[in-house]
Amino acid sequence: MSNYHIKHLEEYYQVYRKSVRNPETFWEEIAEEHFMWRKKWNNVLSWDFTKPEIKWFEGAKLNITENCIDRHLYTRGDKTAIIFEPNNPEEEAQHITYRELHERVCKFANVLKDNGVGKGDRVCVYLPMIPELAISVLACARIGAIHSVVFAGFSSTALATRINDSECKMVITSDGSYRGSKTIDLKGIVDEALEDCPCVDTVLVAKRINTNISMKEGRDKWLQPLLDKAHNDCKPEIVDAEDPLFILYTSGSTGKPKGMVHTTAGYMVYTAYTFKNVFQYREEDVYWCTADIGWITGHSYIVYGPLCNGATTIMFEGVPSYPDFGRFWEIVAKHKVNQFYTAPTAIRALAKEGVEHLEKHDLSSLKVLGTVGEPINEEAWHWYDDNVGKKKSPIVDTWWQTETGGIMISPIAFATPTKPTYATLPFIGIQPALMDEQGEEIKGNQVDGRLCIKYPWPSMARTIWGNHQRYKDTYFSAYDNKYFTGDGALRDEVGYYRITGRVDDVIIVSGHNLGTAPIEDAINEHPAVAESAIVGFPHDIKGNALYGYVTLKETGEYRNQDNLRKEINQIITEQIGPIAKLDKIQFTDGLPKTRSGKIMRRILRKIASNDTSNLGDTSTLLNPEVVQDIMDNVL
Ligand code: WT7
Repeated sequence: MSNYHIKHLEEYYQVYRKSVRNPETFWEEIAEEHFMWRKKWNNVLSWDFTKPEIKWFEGAKLNITENCIDRHLYTRGDKTAIIFEPNNPEEEAQHITYRELHERVCKFANVLKDNGVGKGDRVCVYLPMIPELAISVLACARIGAIHSVVFAGFSSTALATRINDSECKMVITSDGSYRGSKTIDLKGIVDEALEDCPCVDTVLVAKRINTNISMKEGRDKWLQPLLDKAHNDCKPEIVDAEDPLFILYTSGSTGKPKGMVHTTAGYMVYTAYTFKNVFQYREEDVYWCTADIGWITGHSYIVYGPLCNGATTIMFEGVPSYPDFGRFWEIVAKHKVNQFYTAPTAIRALAKEGVEHLEKHDLSSLKVLGTVGEPINEEAWHWYDDNVGKKKSPIVDTWWQTETGGIMISPIAFATPTKPTYATLPFIGIQPALMDEQGEEIKGNQVDGRLCIKYPWPSMARTIWGNHQRYKDTYFSAYDNKYFTGDGALRDEVGYYRITGRVDDVIIVSGHNLGTAPIEDAINEHPAVAESAIVGFPHDIKGNALYGYVTLKETGEYRNQDNLRKEINQIITEQIGPIAKLDKIQFTDGLPKTRSGKIMRRILRKIASNDTSNLGDTSTLLNPEVVQDIMDNVL
């Protein structure tokens, strides 16, 4: 038997050693024993980080939905696969069994086929957290189409960019969405986006909020009538191990969003294996990850990882504050949640509301707590541990990325002793390295550096859609023969890792990864703006908030700075989404620049964080005088 379920620290070390001494044998055993293949591989792994080219389980044939659904039908047909918890607590939750899921995915897959979607075609999914979201993702996978889920909080411009980049031929959306006490006109956003998307010929529209929306003749179709007519069985398309399963966009420090491409077999094996171990999922457990399926966390740990293990996974449509700040805890009590996985920003927001909300609900079902998305601060960690876990539930602080597909550094619940703010140990098969600025690996403990990974793992992204060169430049060029994560980290005296944050121009706001460049581009479109620079500054709840330094073309022109601030945030909302709005905007006469013209963000970051005691060397600046001026007028 392979080591599918690790139970104590000694076993972790033992399995870890095996996984790095002989990765191919290790992953082959896991793949062989725990998944359903139509044909086995010829080769477990081939790789070359200089190209870069990575192939896992080459030659194997499979369909991931057979692994997530069909194979459970015999033993778990009546088990609940997905619990749908609606935005409004008065609306009844839905329990979708594996058998029902099979039927709904098959029907949806047939609708896709009837509408001209086939293997390799890209389908954009722009839906709220309703069952159709998970079902449409699985339906794409059923027929070998590549899904590209765009988070339904993104603006029409952001949506259009993503649709065009991967030339999606279909968009799946809904008439609208609920978000707390508000409704959002999703279809209106899609209509606006599609004005610039000639590649899309069909839009399938799910009904959720029952508003009157306009349907474009020949392009838009209501989903339900098509599902009603569809056949309830659909043979899975058998794909190659390395065929793309999905594209998911993530922001970079420069340029347009990167369409990370994940392939089928390696992604499946790794997400399933990490899910089972990190959360110690047991057959009768109810698991809840509060993320949206629009992010990688939802792809890997709401849909694929849990379903591959035959788990019961919750999809929550709403927000933590509606109808009040007790909503999460009410859901935990109602569905007797055993594993609960959320983000530091949510924990901080809930902690701020005090413990009264917690006390009203029975949280005794909880066994494991998880966190992901950004470094968790000590205070939030302890609040989570004391009040939610009552010091009895281990906290798994899981570090990973859209690009990594699955959890990379994390405790294994009950096996790895936790340590506040530490993601602790590399997961099985993961070989991290800390690098210095000269490109040398820093060996030993009690050191810090830039975090790289030295060896391939099954769920790593294989390329950036349409731009392999950018994939190479971004991840494989900073250090020879290593994947560079963009994060800094330290390793303590026992080898535990603590992620210290991004070392590039990506800012994490409420767990959302935002590149500075696209926001600056948006601001610069305002006719009064000459130049801008965005930095992050510490924020109690969001972790980081955005601080913008803006220089104007003519200072006298805009006397009303508050209006100007509003207009700038309006442009950002339109182009990127409300998540990227600036908390503070300071108008300045100039931005500190190096002689080569690069904005010195290091200085701006310190000023925005009120940390001006040591600004470092400013002598190399082209215009050192602006620094004092900016400091004098800081907000
Ligand atoms: C970046 C990746 C992986 C799903 C959510 C984010 C930061 C993520 C942690 C953690 C410290 C973390 C990193 C990483 N990050 N998890 N547990 N501790 N930092 O995916 O949007 O691709 O962002 O999020 O900086 O590089 P993403």
